Amino acid sequence: MKSRLLRPALLFIAFFTFLFSVSALQFRGSDRPNSQKPIGDRHSSSTPPWDDWGAQTQEGQNSGWAAYNEATALLAKVRPTATPWWEFKKSGVLGTSAYYAKELFFVLFMNGPPQQQLLTTSPNAQKLGPPLRDAVKLLREAAAEHNPDALFTLAEMNFYGNYSHPRNYTEAFRRYHQLATLNGNATAQYMVGFMYATGIGGAVQQDQARAMLYHSLAAEQGEIRSAMTVAYRNYAGIATPRNCEDAVYWYRSIANRAIEYMRSGPPGGHALVRDSYRIADEHGGVYGEGASVSSSGRHADRGGVHSSRYSAFEDVVEYMDLQARKGNIELKFRLAKHNYEGSRSTPKNFLEAKKRFLEIARLYWPKDGKTKSTSLHPHDKRYPPMAAGFLGRMFLRGEGVQQNFAIAKTWFARGIEYGDQLSQYSMGLLYLHGLGVPQDAFKASTYFAAAADNNFPAAQIRMGALFLDQGDVATAIKYFELAGGHGYIEAYYYLAELTYNGVGRDKSCELGSAYYKVVSEKAEMLSTTFAEANQAYKDGDLEAALVGYMMAAEQGFEVGQVNVAYLLDQAKPRFTLNDLMPFVRKKAALASDAFLALIYWNRSAEQKNYDSLVKVGDYYLNGLGTQADPEKAAAAYQAAADSMQSAQALWNLGWMHENGIGIEQDFHLAKRHYDLALETNPREAYLPVILALYKLRLRSWWNTVTHGSVKSIQDEPVVKKEWSFSEWINDFLDAEFLNDGGGGHLDPDDYEDSPMPGGDEDYDFDDLDSEILESLIILALSGALAFLVYYRAQRQRRQEEARRQQAQAQALNQGNAGVNGGNVVAGDAQQQRQQDRGVFPDPNDPDFMNWVAGGIGH
Ligand SMILES: *[C@@H]1O[C@H](CO)[C@@H](O)[C@H](O)[C@H]1NC(C)=O
Ligand SMILES: *[C@@H]1O[C@H](CO)[C@@H](O)[C@H](O)[C@H]1NC(C)=O
Ligand SMILES: *[C@@H]1O[C@H](CO)[C@@H](O)[C@H](O)[C@H]1NC(C)=O
Ligand SMILES: *[C@@H]1O[C@H](CO)[C@@H](O)[C@H](O)[C@H]1NC(C)=O
Repeated sequence: MKSRLLRPALLFIAFFTFLFSVSALQFRGSDRPNSQKPIGDRHSSSTPPWDDWGAQTQEGQNSGWAAYNEATALLAKVRPTATPWWEFKKSGVLGTSAYYAKELFFVLFMNGPPQQQLLTTSPNAQKLGPPLRDAVKLLREAAAEHNPDALFTLAEMNFYGNYSHPRNYTEAFRRYHQLATLNGNATAQYMVGFMYATGIGGAVQQDQARAMLYHSLAAEQGEIRSAMTVAYRNYAGIATPRNCEDAVYWYRSIANRAIEYMRSGPPGGHALVRDSYRIADEHGGVYGEGASVSSSGRHADRGGVHSSRYSAFEDVVEYMDLQARKGNIELKFRLAKHNYEGSRSTPKNFLEAKKRFLEIARLYWPKDGKTKSTSLHPHDKRYPPMAAGFLGRMFLRGEGVQQNFAIAKTWFARGIEYGDQLSQYSMGLLYLHGLGVPQDAFKASTYFAAAADNNFPAAQIRMGALFLDQGDVATAIKYFELAGGHGYIEAYYYLAELTYNGVGRDKSCELGSAYYKVVSEKAEMLSTTFAEANQAYKDGDLEAALVGYMMAAEQGFEVGQVNVAYLLDQAKPRFTLNDLMPFVRKKAALASDAFLALIYWNRSAEQKNYDSLVKVGDYYLNGLGTQADPEKAAAAYQAAADSMQSAQALWNLGWMHENGIGIEQDFHLAKRHYDLALETNPREAYLPVILALYKLRLRSWWNTVTHGSVKSIQDEPVVKKEWSFSEWINDFLDAEFLNDGGGGHLDPDDYEDSPMPGGDEDYDFDDLDSEILESLIILALSGALAFLVYYRAQRQRRQEEARRQQAQAQALNQGNAGVNGGNVVAGDAQQQRQQDRGVFPDPNDPDFMNWVAGGIGH
């Protein structure tokens, strides 16, 4: 009831806020000085562009360079605009109200469907600010003269919205296409390929064959993003038959570049920063905390930046800092390492790291003749040597300090005294490459061996490489596999080469291509812009985020695929306007989004993302982006359930068994699946499963007593009731109080009209919600029933008691033992009948209607 009142009230307030803002905007719009000037006036203050053409032509720049250069100068003046006021994140009361106010506004005054936010060219041409407008005009002139840079800039402006130019994917495609055909520019070919592949913004019809053609052309020219796309398409069999050899060819070329890039870094290699995160994980996965594979079971400890766990992590850092200052060495070391490595929420801080490492190391190697601290707790004795290793590494690589091999070597030697692996490995690097010491491969290998035996992956890779050089492939592979277990890119690279060429192990193209793919994707910064997309997402620029993730998705990054699918999924508002105004029929504009989303869920699912597989099931079940097909849905759920990780899939299967949707109705199997769901995820699945089981028991029992055709729950004794009960229920049904053909199905539809309690839009599992709601209603019903039964029985008992006392009094008065005995027997029988009547009144009883009214209207 509450939410029913709350929603219109919120909307009302929001609407006024909106109107107010609109008028404010209009007011602001009217004082733009140049917007009303006639076209001829625009250049009055600056030199007309055509004035200096002659001069430029004489310099040999004839294909529109003058116009292009002037446009560039103008563009430099354009300030990037802030995110428009209505593009809040749709969270919080204000954000939500503003969002719906905007939707409402469009519905009421624009006579159209609410505006789409993602991937659309805005339908009305927007007025551009004066400098931008002039720049665009100049660029068009230059483009008309086939100036490649002008074409490129125009294309980018229309595609990415640079310089706050409104996006127009149609125009972007036209310009990229022009450029690609003009001079075979690989970037433009890649973009044309990307747009053909995705049909983004409706700019072109999706055409996978052309996409493949353009990507291949660009890949041949060394465009890494296209190479990756072609590799993935051959690998996964998208738009082309699976072709392992071709996949390897492309993945291998990228892997070589990745390794080259890594090795081009300071000693020890470039650190490969990872920016690919599943944005859904910030909310506990696509099904929310606990219901998703990614945040339950063995992944339960992984939290996103914005998850509650993560904020707790920042508290932990604060706590660590406090303890470190009080002299807790372990926490100080961990903090220093955290500073050194950085994390997703906190950037690296070499200065802090160095300060802390130094403080720890100085406990053993004090500066000015002070004595070494000997009072360390045995547990803390390993930290000073480890800190020495890190200090040496910072000097070796020049991180936060001037690179200095001599100082590095000093620290490594100190660490090695105490058997620190990092120091051993790094000392090996010094000798291997002859940094500040004479090159000595043998010495290097002894240091590497010591570190490798201490299970230091980077050293294991070096050992593997050394053994490989000497032809001992078996030992080499052992080392690579050890290091690969820690996710080291070089280990995967060696394994890929060995596997693909069949050296030391069976030749396998499939496995080889998989390894190459891992290598290519570990160097994600070479081919993707995850960091930019993440930032755009954080800033609420969903379109830019979506485009960034989609490019990665096309290149085969599972994280990109799941992010795109999640964003397109999000494009569907939690509760649509239809909830508020049933007479407004929204056009099926989102269908294409759902179609794209399904494609990416599917691709992500094929890369072993079980949450995505469950999503594929959902889309088939609800007919989103495809024909509704419960059987395919069931198959997807089954496949996800087979992983034994997805409680959601098991739950859904239980539900489908319970209701006979897509698979045979079978209460017994339904219970099995619910139980498995609980087993898979005991913590979060508890409540929904318990509720579902209550309902299921009720239905199964119901099925049994009505001799239904469905297999009932079997391993538990079915609750035994007197015949009179089912008799009453049959009567009850005959009276059609439950509008239900007697099959006993309580379909979810029966409860669809009920308002959702609270309407909490952060609550992620919609389906689960209605299930819980349904179960709760049933629980409430059975509770009310039970109470009435109890109450009736009590009252009946009291009345009976009174009557019996009366009868006894009468009998005593009569003083006839024989008659009295007969009366008692008759009285018992009568009491039996009356109790029956008490529990479930006879339908012919006038009380019956009251009873029913009480039971339903609770
Ligand atoms: C987008 O570009 C196309 C093709 O250049 C053009 O026909 C269309 O009017 C443009 N749309 C807007 C809103 O500017
Ligand atoms: C494509 O053209 C643009 C503009 O001329 C240029 O900046 C870019 O480097 C070109 N791309 C390639 C791969 O040559
Ligand atoms: C336009 O913006 C995108 C995304 O921010 C960027 O990658 C691209 O380099 C920009 N293009 C130009 C021509 O500035
Ligand atoms: C999902 O992937 C499977 C396996 O490649 C494919 O058969 C199926 O058609 C795909 N479904 C959709 C909707 O793309």
